[in-house]
Order: sequence, then structure tokens, then C-alpha cells
Amino acid sequence: MAIPALQHFLDIQSLTDEQFWGLLRLARELKDERIRLGQNAPILAGKSLAMVFQKPSLRTRVSFEMGMQHLGGHAFYISPQEVGLGTRESVPDVARVLSGYADGIMARVFDHEHILQLAEWGSVPVINGLSDFSHPCQALADLFTIWEELGQLAGLTLVYVGDGSNNVATSLVMAAAKVGLTMRVVAPPGYQPDPAVLAHSGTDVTVTDDLDGVVGADILYTDVWTSMGQESEREERLRIFPPYQVNGALVDRTRNPDVKVMHCLPAHRGEEITDDVADGPHSLLFPQAHNRLHAQKAILAHLLGGIPLK
Ligand code: CP
Ligand code: NVA
Repeated sequence: MAIPALQHFLDIQSLTDEQFWGLLRLARELKDERIRLGQNAPILAGKSLAMVFQKPSLRTRVSFEMGMQHLGGHAFYISPQEVGLGTRESVPDVARVLSGYADGIMARVFDHEHILQLAEWGSVPVINGLSDFSHPCQALADLFTIWEELGQLAGLTLVYVGDGSNNVATSLVMAAAKVGLTMRVVAPPGYQPDPAVLAHSGTDVTVTDDLDGVVGADILYTDVWTSMGQESEREERLRIFPPYQVNGALVDRTRNPDVKVMHCLPAHRGEEITDDVADGPHSLLFPQAHNRLHAQKAILAHLLGGIPLK
């Protein structure tokens, strides 16, 4: 039976397991095509993507721009000052204006509600390029990377260490549930996943502040302790999080000599992760960053190019 088409890519939890797998398979196909032929078919010729940013970005901006270019389309960047989302102009107005210029909108925002409003008021597909609540493009690329590197997803254990309440952790919790990946979150009290997120994920996630939670991990995952927009909490967070640093001792504590280490980047090296681990033999940091391109090409090919999920 055909997999129902997606209208938007706002969050992982609104995808069915089959839609999530469909995107992973399409990413695989597009990556293989590019490796085999040195290029992709121009399935987005004549199409354009508006990229609205309220926060800085390296990976998201460049991988979406290059993804559009590889598929024969075009992307244009709109800076925080230019768009003034919700300040210079209301979100519904921005959504309706951009829908007349572009075939899709990718937005990076503070307030997750703004992503939902863009989708509600616009008439083109909307992609969540990170909000304070979630980072679904990252989770799709991360699971694609694990699948590629370890050959499977179901049955593996991913342990997220650090700020378990942030956008990246939230999307990983949601994504793990789609593919039968066992997920544990090792985080200090006050920085653990919202119970509503855990309930929504529909799977059992172990949450603990005990670092022995890393024992048996196939993947150790971390992210910054202070996310964009939380800068005023930085000092307090720097007092709380140091025991949760992903360093050589924590890698050893997994008791898995083949454990993989992941981080969405940008990293605050010397805080949540040490150089020896980030640059060492366990690290998947750069393959995972590169896979943002391939995972997002699948989202674009499907939403803007009508390529079906299989
Ligand atoms: N991981 C990620 O989204 O990176 P950027 O903030 O550089 O886009
Ligand atoms: N949690 C981080 C992720 C950056 C890609 C942030 O929101 O700043």
C-alpha cells in the first residue's frame, strides 16, 4: 500500500513509522545516486525554497541551500533582521507573502508556535529547521547516520547525555520510537525530558541522573548545555552539567569498545564533549553533519518535488 504523502515536516511525532522509514529510504537513494553519478536528477528544477532564520546556523543553512542546488532548485536566505518574524510583520502575513514567491518555507525560530502558524497560514510546505521545542531535521539525519554506520536501528541503544530537555533530545526521543531504537536519557534533575514528550513518543524511555545509565550504550549522544536563546542561564548550567561531560572516562564507562559518539554540532569543546572524543575513533560527528544534506534532500524531494515515499 502507498505511504500517505506528507504536507509539511514540522515534527517527528506527526509522521507515521512508515513515513519516517520512507524518508530514510529516499535519503539513501538520493545519497547513492549522488555518489554513483556525481549528481542528482534535477527533480526540483524551477522550484525555490525560502529559508527564514531567527537564529544563527551553519549546517542547516548550508545543507538546505546545497540540497536545493543538487536537486536543480534554488534557495534564498532571509536574515532575522529582514524578516522580523512576529515583530516587523505578523507570522500569518509572512507565511502568505512567502507562499506567493517560493515553493516551500524552511524556518528556524525561537517559538515553536511560529512554525505551526507558518504551516497554518501559508499554502506551501513548511519545514522546521529548529525551534526551541524540536529539531526534527537533525533527528532524521542522525538516525540515517546510525542506520548507515551500524546497518540497523531496531535493537540498538542510544543514550543521550546532557540537557535532556532541549530540542535535539526531544526530537531524538520522538524518532527513536519510530524505529524501535531503545533510548535512555542521562540528565540532571530539572533538565530531563518533559513528561508530555515522553508520553507522546509512545515508547519506554529510561530517564535517570545516574551516569551508569551509559552502560551498554551503542551510541552516546550529547549536545550543548546552553542552547541558542538560553544564554542568560549559561553560568548556572555551567555549574550543573560538568559531571555529564562526554569524555574518555564516560566512553569507557559504556563498557562497549565499539560505542559511537554523536553530537549535532556546533560543539562547545571542553564543555559537553572533549577534543579527544570529538576527534577520536568513536566519533560520528562529521558523518552526521554531512548527512544533514542527504536527509534534507529527501524531505525536499518529497515535499517540493512530489517524489513518493516507499
Ligand atoms: N546542527 C545544526 O542544526 O547546526 P546549525 O545550528 O549550524 O544549523
Ligand atoms: N540545542 C542546540 C542545537 C543547535 C543545533 C540549540 O538549540 O542551540
